[in-house]
Amino acid sequence: MTAKRSVVLGCGSYLPQKVLTNAELAARIDTSDEWIVQRTGIRQRHIAAEGEFTSHLAINAARAALEHAGLDAQAIDLIVLATSTPDHTFPATAVAVQNELGIHHGAAFDLQAVCSGFVFALATADNFLRSGAYKRALVIGAETFSRILDWNDRGTCVLFGDGAGAVVLEAQDQPGLPSDRGVLTTHLRSDGRHKAKLYVDGGPSTTQTVGHLRMEGREVFKHAVGMITDVIVDAFDATGATADSIDWFIPHQANKRIIDASAHKLHIAPQKVVLTVDLHGNTSAASIPLALAVAVKDGRVKKGDLVLFEAMGGGFTWGSALVRW
Ligand code: ACO
Repeated sequence: MTAKRSVVLGCGSYLPQKVLTNAELAARIDTSDEWIVQRTGIRQRHIAAEGEFTSHLAINAARAALEHAGLDAQAIDLIVLATSTPDHTFPATAVAVQNELGIHHGAAFDLQAVCSGFVFALATADNFLRSGAYKRALVIGAETFSRILDWNDRGTCVLFGDGAGAVVLEAQDQPGLPSDRGVLTTHLRSDGRHKAKLYVDGGPSTTQTVGHLRMEGREVFKHAVGMITDVIVDAFDATGATADSIDWFIPHQANKRIIDASAHKLHIAPQKVVLTVDLHGNTSAASIPLALAVAVKDGRVKKGDLVLFEAMGGGFTWGSALVRW
């Protein structure tokens, strides 16, 4: 019996030119390269230039993904863009991307699940494609977190960076076997009891300001590993995949200690873990497709590989996706 699957045709990414190192931060605020590296694994992050918006990052990543897929933009009939840092309160940043790509058919919308945004967007697009509603989707994670940071708060401003990544998905009939290509399973969770642990203290309906990111870092850390491992076990249970059978683990790049602890708890071998947090910092919804693009470009992720994604972020929201490349 065949099964409709969302097969990944290509991926791409974009990072703003400006790199901000830990040493540069240490010259501005009371922190050090040693503290940041030891607690987070982050060495540098990219920062969008003045006048460079989330949509610009997203468009560059989308174009790179389309080129990698060998596809014209007109083939796309769905754009799901995950971001917490849209160009404007409305319209959706996704329609700016759609317009810039010259697409005037299908649907484009933003999705807000903070750092879990890419996994939520992937799951959303996958459901639309498998239902037959759309044929080909661009799933984008794009952020300019530098615009919502309190640059005097050393507990948060050292952690985040800007960037964008994208994948192109196509609905295809597959044999309906575990060896199928495409998105094999997705698992999404939210629990609003934790909404005050990681939030932005502004918004159109409350303060009429954009606000700044606030975080109880220790509280986030405390919950992260348990939540991440729970949804990965769900993905394994749903598919029969195991820590041994996956080829690559591409987690949300928030903190090396969280990633290492999650991989360790799940018995995922360290050499299967794709790490870019050192170079990109935490780029929220963009971090997974940014890391994916690195691992595809350097030849690690190859056709037929089983790739495990996971993310956890504000809300809390968290989720996993298992994809055969
Ligand atoms: N440089 C130097 N010292 C610092 C810095 C800094 N940048 N930031 C905090 N400190 C100090 C604190 O003031 C504190 O000092 P004190 O003991 O004199 O009061 C000390 O370091 C310890 O602070 P903690 O906050 O307890 O440090 P902790 O070991 O918990 O590390 C961190 C902080 C890195 C934020 C950690 O809690 C963490 O990684 N949490 C998870 C955060 C995360 O990953 N968030 C994103 C996930 S969700 C998403 O992606 C949106």
